[in-house]
Amino acid sequence: MAVIFSGIQPSGIITLGNYLGALKQFVELQDEHECYFCIVNQHAITVPQDPKALRENTRTLAALYLAVGLDPQKITLFIQSEVPAHTQLGWIMECTVHIGELERMTQFKDKSVSQKEGISGGLLTYPALMAADILLYNTDFVPVGEDQKQHLEITRDMAQRFNNRYGEIFKIPEIKVPKQGARVMSLQEPNKKMSKSDEDSNSFISMLDEPKVIEKKIKRAQTDSEASVHFDKENKPGISNLMSIYSACTGKSLEEITTLYKGKGYGDFKKDLAQVVVETIRPIQERYNNLINSSELDDVLNKGAEKANKAATQMLTRVEKAMGLKR
Ligand code: AMP
Ligand code: TRP
Repeated sequence: MAVIFSGIQPSGIITLGNYLGALKQFVELQDEHECYFCIVNQHAITVPQDPKALRENTRTLAALYLAVGLDPQKITLFIQSEVPAHTQLGWIMECTVHIGELERMTQFKDKSVSQKEGISGGLLTYPALMAADILLYNTDFVPVGEDQKQHLEITRDMAQRFNNRYGEIFKIPEIKVPKQGARVMSLQEPNKKMSKSDEDSNSFISMLDEPKVIEKKIKRAQTDSEASVHFDKENKPGISNLMSIYSACTGKSLEEITTLYKGKGYGDFKKDLAQVVVETIRPIQERYNNLINSSELDDVLNKGAEKANKAATQMLTRVEKAMGLKR
């Protein structure tokens, strides 16, 4: 069975963008792959985090992973900091990657700008830890949103460079992006990606937003003055983004949606879209409410850490042997 690995940061409550870009495809993959899903809390601390919020967001994210339909009997769900091999291989990857490569990463450039207390070293070396996450499990495919393309390319470069130096140790992983929803944009600034750490909460839909809040946020979403529902990313980024969300939630193509709303205004379209999003999120929230305070969640995370530790330690040992780090 091919191996899947992916991770999400517990840096806030996950958004509709995370769901459509990442989690939704995880569910589709779980039956036919060996899946590792990780809550990457050590990636989250590359920018300052409040300890209490980090702990809560970690648990919320774990519950949401299961609430979207991932089955703990089929997948391995775990917390990054509970598997020390990630940071151990992370250091080795830091010694493999070049500073020039790290400085080119757009996520680094974007996130650096908003750091008021200085930019942490970890924000720059972040892709080395991400490469370690992936390479520890002999991963074949990494399902992520489009924003992670550059990180996947640098991971492949690191793996290749390492193999050239020390022998064929790592499998070279491939990226897997969804057809619709790969890049959900901010509702307020549709040229920016929707992000859970955005300061303006009107710019994203959280997976735990109440129906009324979802309706309000969609109603207020930026559009244009043309009042015609058709897809034109360049000139109509706002309505195009809303159409992509509609399409990703319902499976309807952009053409079908255009036909459906011919002659209708943005008001009608937004009202229906709010309904579509609410109905997509509702069953997830119901399952979430049952899970969040359950001991089942802790059992899943404990078992996940145990299984991940076993697999990761094996790979780390191979790496250390190949490099002369083992006696
Ligand atoms: P992050 O929230 O940065 O940890 O991202 C977790 C996963 O969600 C990654 O696979 C991202 O590519 C994906 N993702 C994050 N934001 C978006 C977005 N706005 N649209 C689509 N996918 C996204
Ligand atoms: N960098 C990813 C993001 O910001 C999160 C991440 C960390 C990840 N490690 C990973 C994603 C490994 C996939 C595989 O979204």
